[in-house]
Amino acid sequence: MAPRGLSPNDPSSYSRPDQIILTNIFLALDANFERKIFSGNVDLSVKKINEDVKELILDSKDLNIDSIYEKETGRKLNFTISSPIEEFGSKVSVELPPDAPTEFVITIQYETSPNASGLQWLRPEQTAGKQHPYVFSQFQAIAARSFLPCQDTPFVKTKYQAVISVPDGLTAVMSAICDSSRSLGGRGNRKQLFHFVQDIPIPAYLIAIAIGALESRDIGPRSKVWSEKEVVDDAAYEFANTEHQLRIAEEICGPYVWGRYDLLVLPPSFPFGGMENPCLTFVTPTVLAGDRSLANVVAHEISHSWTGNLVTNANFEHFWLNEGFTMLIERKIIGRLENEHLQDFEAYDGLQELKDTIKRLGEDNPLTQLVVNLTATHPDDAFSIVPYEKGQLFLRYLERIVGGPEHFEPFLRKYFDTFKYKSITTDTFRNFYESNFAHIDAIKEIDWQTWLYSPGFPPEIPEFDMSYVKVCTDFSKRFIEWDGVSPIPFTDDDVKSLRTEQLIHLLQKIIAEEPQSIEKLRQFEDKFGLKSVKNAEIKYRWLRIGLQSHWEDKIGETLDWLVHVGRMKYARPLYRALYDWEVSRQRAIDSYTKNKDNMMHVLAYTLSKDLKLSE
Ligand SMILES: *[C@@H]1O[C@H](CO)[C@@H](O)[C@H](O)[C@H]1NC(C)=O
Ligand SMILES: [Zn+2]
Repeated sequence: MAPRGLSPNDPSSYSRPDQIILTNIFLALDANFERKIFSGNVDLSVKKINEDVKELILDSKDLNIDSIYEKETGRKLNFTISSPIEEFGSKVSVELPPDAPTEFVITIQYETSPNASGLQWLRPEQTAGKQHPYVFSQFQAIAARSFLPCQDTPFVKTKYQAVISVPDGLTAVMSAICDSSRSLGGRGNRKQLFHFVQDIPIPAYLIAIAIGALESRDIGPRSKVWSEKEVVDDAAYEFANTEHQLRIAEEICGPYVWGRYDLLVLPPSFPFGGMENPCLTFVTPTVLAGDRSLANVVAHEISHSWTGNLVTNANFEHFWLNEGFTMLIERKIIGRLENEHLQDFEAYDGLQELKDTIKRLGEDNPLTQLVVNLTATHPDDAFSIVPYEKGQLFLRYLERIVGGPEHFEPFLRKYFDTFKYKSITTDTFRNFYESNFAHIDAIKEIDWQTWLYSPGFPPEIPEFDMSYVKVCTDFSKRFIEWDGVSPIPFTDDDVKSLRTEQLIHLLQKIIAEEPQSIEKLRQFEDKFGLKSVKNAEIKYRWLRIGLQSHWEDKIGETLDWLVHVGRMKYARPLYRALYDWEVSRQRAIDSYTKNKDNMMHVLAYTLSKDLKLSE
């Protein structure tokens, strides 16, 4: 059952910011690693929109709320917590005193739950250093409510401040600027207190926290990389171009307003690629390729500093405003950093992925619309590549219609400047575009209805520069047609001429082919230096090719790798491939059983289904 009668602004939130709206959040929390909870209080500043409003409605999930009172007077406020509706959590209704002023502050005393959906608590053995525990958050789309009671809708943006106390020896970081820290307490009970400030209004899903044995290295005038000390130097090397990317992004988008741009490399069990938490991007350690070749993840997260974090979707039905724009900017950065062939190559790659996804979901599936209807759907269930790639295609189309980047990019900067610090819907964007380009007749032919609200393939696919793709297609054909007896049809120069992105694309093409002979694979592996490859995108694809060709050497290699790598994008398809082959099936199950306690809950849970160990 889906929630009904939720906010007119957001089907995924109980809150009513049209009645009374949060204007500031102040968190004072203690991180308790024994109990795996945060406890303390939050001050919510609120402002009435409707002077007659009788209650403040907040989102919450698995929170243990002790008391709520008006901060200034100390008056207790009555509240009720409704029974939870699935993943949406519970509605907290706080009764407002009849004489409450237009603006006031309430304090809520509460604890989180050990299984808060937005928090991952790691035991020491799940970290790189294996000595200290760790916790990190992932609140997008609607998990901030498992960390604090709030208006958990991107329609509402507030500044926040936080005071976080952590066990001695650990460091806290947040999606904010840390402006001080100090020790607290005596021997045996010493704590470290960190103070954070985020002065730019952000939606609740961009609040973020991580605590662990963290170190940092400067990688630029406004950037540090944070991680456990075991990987901090590798990370500093990998992300050395961050400042360069930031400057290119500023050329395209306008000034970077967030002050710092730091990166946090999470433990290997982090199940995702990256998350654009302001001032502090979270990334998976699998992007540490050793050769800076996976930097597009950083270009993507940097782009979010404008698209998503500055101009935000009003709710997740308009998620393409966050991700479609971000893909567009990411590829513009790549284009300027490298060249336009690569920009188009990545866009073409994305188009292939979009085609696969639309085929898998079905051409009539409403989730393949650019703007989706989330009234009865959890945002996580609607999540797919569609808002990213279809959104990017739409924006490329809109760019072409008005005469290309020289006309569209100044418009983009104006768009960011006009709607910064705001949350908007698709209609707002459309009106802004149409009024800015009213003098261009060609915009009349834009079929907004089909692009935005029809499922399936976009009405128009642009032409891409295919120069990088052609090479991959040719290499793949040569390899597939090769008999494995005559000499391998690639010279050393061929190998050298291939960019990392092209090798990844080539391997992806081979995965889609019939299994190849092990003899051919062995020679290919030698020729292309794949045996000890560090790049996770390459390694993952090579292991899949080996397993689907029933190459026994690859079973042990895959299992060894999966002990360390918890990124779902790799772990699930590899476990499924091991399961599909009777020779490796039992070993996969044994390995899973042995390691599942070290996996992130979401991965252990989905793998148990993939391995048919649970329904
Ligand atoms: C969205 O879906 C709900 C039912 O799940 C329906 O009642 C509503 O009319 C739909 N909204 C639009 C705009 O199609
Ligand atoms: Zn993104």
